[in-house]
Amino acid sequence: MNVYRNADVTVLNDQMMVPGIGFLPVNAFVLHSAEPVVIDTGLSLPGKADAFLETLSSALDPADVRWIFITHPDRDHTGGLMKLLEAAPKARLAGNFACIGIMSTEWEIPLDRVYLINPGQSLSVGDRELSVFRPPLFDSPATMGFTESATGVCFSSDCFGAPLPSAELASAADVSEVPEADLREGQLLWAAADSPWVHTVDPVKFQQTIDPIVAMDPSALLSSHLPPAFNRTRQFADMLTLAPRARPFAGPDQRALEELLASFEPAVAKA
Ligand SMILES: [Fe+2]
Ligand SMILES: [Fe+2]
Repeated sequence: MNVYRNADVTVLNDQMMVPGIGFLPVNAFVLHSAEPVVIDTGLSLPGKADAFLETLSSALDPADVRWIFITHPDRDHTGGLMKLLEAAPKARLAGNFACIGIMSTEWEIPLDRVYLINPGQSLSVGDRELSVFRPPLFDSPATMGFTESATGVCFSSDCFGAPLPSAELASAADVSEVPEADLREGQLLWAAADSPWVHTVDPVKFQQTIDPIVAMDPSALLSSHLPPAFNRTRQFADMLTLAPRARPFAGPDQRALEELLASFEPAVAKA
């Protein structure tokens, strides 16, 4: 994992190579507020939970974490959760009812440490408030992001993500390193793949979910699946407006999988 810090936020950056698609950043974050917040806990692959905790330790002592905010319980957001709950005994686990419920199908979530919160509510973390909202694009009934009041950074969960052409770009510290055409194409592909319902929405109602972000005009948009983006509100809002009309995503089919597998291994000789 890569670690880089911008002002009050540390980015814990990992990535996944998606065959035929590109390199998807997978970010968790630390908000260094008076009561430190860890936002999501990384991938669930073998060894990743320990790696997450080790990487987190380079940003702060896990024992000092006061909040673990899970934006939604997909497996690329919860890898280190149970280990972090152990290492951070004073931390509360913030999420909504759906988030805690879905995670409870896999783990024994300590309900006395849960803090239930919904879009439209805010959470005080000592020196600032987190204003919780549902991002315009999401792939889970649990998805929530938030904007924090001290520096105006917005954590948008899966929304605004993009698979990128190289591993280097997926670990970039600033989305400005990504060529504009690759960025727009990748974001629209991700919108269609991760939120396929976007093609069925009423465009007027969908726009009403985008407008609040334009009004907020966050100083930074921090997506789980994109390098940090600064001063991009208008550009990213325009991308969202286009998303309902973007090309629908169809994943590779069985033939493509067999071709892929054949490219990995020597062909087995037929009897
Ligand atoms: Fe997701
Ligand atoms: Fe995700």
